[in-house]
Amino acid sequence: MQKILVVDDVEINREILRDMLGGSYIVEAAGDGEQAVRKLLECEGKLAALLLDLQMPNMDGYAVLEWMKKNQWMEKIPVLIISAEDSAEIESACLGMGVLDFIHKPFESSIVKNRVQNIVELFSCKNILEQKVESQTKVLAEQGRIIQIQAEKLRDTELFNHLMMQYSSAIMVVEAKLKVLYAEFSQEYNRNPFESIKSRLKSAESIYEKLERKGFPITVESIEENLTDVAGVRVICSFPDDIYRLADLVVRPDDIILLKKKDYIKNPKANGYRSLHLILDVPIFLSREKKYVKVEMQFRTIAMDFWASLEHKLRYKKDLENTEEIERQLKVCADAIDVLDYQMMQIRNKIDKSHTALLKPKSPPQAEEQI
Ligand code: GTP
Ligand code: MG
Repeated sequence: MQKILVVDDVEINREILRDMLGGSYIVEAAGDGEQAVRKLLECEGKLAALLLDLQMPNMDGYAVLEWMKKNQWMEKIPVLIISAEDSAEIESACLGMGVLDFIHKPFESSIVKNRVQNIVELFSCKNILEQKVESQTKVLAEQGRIIQIQAEKLRDTELFNHLMMQYSSAIMVVEAKLKVLYAEFSQEYNRNPFESIKSRLKSAESIYEKLERKGFPITVESIEENLTDVAGVRVICSFPDDIYRLADLVVRPDDIILLKKKDYIKNPKANGYRSLHLILDVPIFLSREKKYVKVEMQFRTIAMDFWASLEHKLRYKKDLENTEEIERQLKVCADAIDVLDYQMMQIRNKIDKSHTALLKPKSPPQAEEQI
């Protein structure tokens, strides 16, 4: 049976509460604040609740609350005030100090039992949850520390750094190819085939974490064999059809080879995510060899990119409230963005058409009719 402490200077009150709660708890009692503090210290870790009177001689209930607050006892034990006071001001002051509930005198057996039981259960649930969070935080911190140490080990090996140099060279090759296409399109067609490029090399920490998560060996060979996104190039285009046109131009059988295509534009993910992903084998020419290195390319429109960056932030901010509602709204936005992207493309087509019409040579003027 759990133990509770009843503090009241009137013996009859202590006895009434002992009668009401004795069937469910071992009831300890104290006649004033000083005794209460002594009992709290004696029974530290063993009390499930404190029922505290406010008006008492020597040390009153407020002074007990002050002492508890100062010594971080409010987090250790739930406090219910037992008082004849029914002023809202006093009640709110006590709640402000961390008191969880009020039981008004005269005592009503079923109210007393229910309130105490509710508070005891609520407090223990809160404690269990806090302990879980604390232990998970410790586990996460430990995992983070391990990842950092392992990443440091990877960075210290020449083989790893050599491989990273190859990945960044492959990024340069893809970027160079894109820049050439940009120059060609701008000059010959007066059009930009894309808006911007963002490239990134996966950090040693992320590489280690991904290998570990997927159950692959933590070796340099394993990185090459099992990871396809160490080198990443993201291309942001203006219109959906630019994406497909550009992707076709990047891949050439005699040059950059397509290993895998995931078309999340034609087949969006359940959350609304839309992008075209290509896993490529990119040739790099080193001093002694030609080597193929994997690069992940992502193509999306400006609007899709705007959406993806917000959605990414949401996934890393798990402490947000109403996550489900936000996810639903994000999906609605993704679908709206898709419609907008295609509408913008139609507008562009119309502009293109009228522009071409303007450039067409006008038909020669008809000879004026003689009168
Ligand atoms: P990863 O293990 O994350 O690489 O996923 P995967 O191997 O299943 O490949 P996928 O092609 O689905 O995703 C590769 C990358 O695309 C991710 O690392 C993200 O950068 C991006 N991505 C995929 N799905 C989403 C998504 O739902 N939202 C956002 N913002 N980005 C996504
Ligand atoms: Mg990835």
